[in-house]
Amino acid sequence: MTLAGKHVIVTAGPTHEPIDPVRVIANRSSGKQGFAIAGAAAKSGARVTLIAGPVCLDTPPGVTRVNVETALQMDSAVESALPADCAILVAAVADWRVVPSPAKLKKADGPPDLQFLLNPDILAGLSASPRRPRLLIGFAAETDNVLSNAVAKRAAKGCDWIVANDVSGGTEKSVMGGDRNRVALVSADGVEDWPELSKDEVALRLVKRIAAILG
Ligand code: C5P
Repeated sequence: MTLAGKHVIVTAGPTHEPIDPVRVIANRSSGKQGFAIAGAAAKSGARVTLIAGPVCLDTPPGVTRVNVETALQMDSAVESALPADCAILVAAVADWRVVPSPAKLKKADGPPDLQFLLNPDILAGLSASPRRPRLLIGFAAETDNVLSNAVAKRAAKGCDWIVANDVSGGTEKSVMGGDRNRVALVSADGVEDWPELSKDEVALRLVKRIAAILG
């Protein structure tokens, strides 16, 4: 089975939400797992659009990359990339943004009183959209109750599969930034535990499963 003739959208990396012209709210996502999936899908013959937050990673061969910074930019880049047969939303999208100050905030003025606004949920929005890809896959990074949260998230977001991983390590040695990953695939058929694998192996396995559905 290959993905020849299919269009696959992948989001990857963190988003950066600006506070002022020099400061951002960010998270620890490295983008490695999403980039590995984009590369594996391209190797399998798909046309791949990779919508990447700010990361220092090379674009995998054969992949069309769109760089974004914020959640709002990622949301509109996904919309612009449609239609697609499959979307795999791996990015760690910031849940909140602030209205950025046009000028650099001054330390002497004291700690800023940041007002948070909710970002759009790209995955839930795509699921509810009339242009929903046939196969919609989300990721769930959890620090506790990984599987029950992932099962609930799959229902709440209306996606077909959730790839759940435990990020409770919380440092650069953990899943975020590391090269290995232990995930569970949550689908309508139940929960499938995968062994610990490299992120490239997780990508390959996931792409094979996608090709079995779409191929
Ligand atoms: O709700 P939570 O952030 O845990 O959900 C994770 C999944 O939802 C990931 O697939 C992520 O890419 C997606 N997501 C999104 N837009 C958001 C937040 C999360 O697409 N604003």
